[in-house]
Amino acid sequence: MNKFDAVPSEEEDDDENSDKCMSTISRHFFGDELDKPSFSISILENMKEEYGLFVWPCSIILAEYVWQQRFRFSGVSVVELGAGTSLPGLVAAKVGSDVTLTDDSDRIEVLENMKSVCELNKLKCEVMGLTWGVWDASVFNLHPKIILGADVFYDTSAFDDLFASLTFLLKNSPGSVFITTYHNRRYSYFVCLSQVLIKNFHLMCSGHHLIEFLMVKWGLKCVKLLDGFSFLPPDKASGLSGNIQLAEIVLSGELTEETSSSVVR
Ligand SMILES: C[S@@+](CC[C@H](N)C(=O)[O-])C[C@H]1O[C@@H](n2cnc3c(N)ncnc32)[C@H](O)[C@@H]1O
Repeated sequence: MNKFDAVPSEEEDDDENSDKCMSTISRHFFGDELDKPSFSISILENMKEEYGLFVWPCSIILAEYVWQQRFRFSGVSVVELGAGTSLPGLVAAKVGSDVTLTDDSDRIEVLENMKSVCELNKLKCEVMGLTWGVWDASVFNLHPKIILGADVFYDTSAFDDLFASLTFLLKNSPGSVFITTYHNRRYSYFVCLSQVLIKNFHLMCSGHHLIEFLMVKWGLKCVKLLDGFSFLPPDKASGLSGNIQLAEIVLSGELTEETSSSVVR
């Protein structure tokens, strides 16, 4: 059976059958006109798996942002962290970025799926294991202009490691920016994050101080904060729900084009 087939053969045992029945290919369209998309990206998903084998709403929103901001992505080096099914990174590759897709080095099935989606879409991206807070030799060779991360803030125990890797990459490529979408599932953490971002981290918010603490600890600041639904076309917005925000984050000491034009006050 071809690896992209979703229908299992009759001989396969029940477990294998149920695994494959949960596999599907979703198509995601990008373009300025609804009836005339410029291109589509196909994604292999496995509904049985958590996290990395499913296209999360944050990923759809970040991918659309990449498409709408495509002039920034053309010809630049992009690294996607916790890429999972990799929709934003694949859109970046489609609009001309030199893309490295990364995910947890221990999640082999996720990394294999990333290679398969590149093949399926005929896109040449590097795929590498990058576990947050772990410095393999290959990490030192990454000099991204833009770092992407969709729905990577979901497990608070991993936040510090994620910030450590992110800050390393931002420092390894002066002038770079982290563009992330996050889903406000735990109200208190992300209201806190939003307030911290909006006030450039001078605000002490009540309740959890984890995000504020980590942003200050790692010397980061937000230069743009958007409601994820504010730029989403109605046909995509109608299929999604939740409180999802998009933030652009840079090193606090850095002045970039974004900082001078669009600092959120
Ligand atoms: C909620 S999923 C989001 C996946 C994808 N970005 C999306 O939005 O569809 C979180 C992703 O982070 C990855 N991840 C979790 N912990 C990680 C770690 N310690 N290092 C690297 N990646 C990690 C998971 O494998 C998963 O792909």
